[in-house]
Amino acid sequence: MPTVVIANLQSKTIHCEDKRESLLDILLSATDWMHACGKKGRCTTCKARILSGKEHLSEKTRPELQYTKLNKLREDERLTCQTLISGDVKVAVPKETQLPHLNYSE
Ligand code: FES
Repeated sequence: MPTVVIANLQSKTIHCEDKRESLLDILLSATDWMHACGKKGRCTTCKARILSGKEHLSEKTRPELQYTKLNKLREDERLTCQTLISGDVKVAVPKETQLPHLNYSE
């Protein structure tokens, strides 16, 4: 059972039951996470910084490649609504998409 750890949110740990869920849906099962366009790959607010386990992520989608080219998504960031996982992953919430009511450590 893959595990997702959110490093800068008290290392919150989520055990994933269903690998068909997007990384965003896995995160949303345990915490609030910004997703302004409704999971359609049309914004970058759902992005996560991948600290480890990038080999357990699905291939980057066309929107992710486009946003990377436009410098709106860093090489180590993924759109969580576009990403599936197949193993353990550690992520962090980028500063610019942190929610004001949650307590991040960095
Ligand atoms: S919610 Fe907008 S790109 Fe993921």
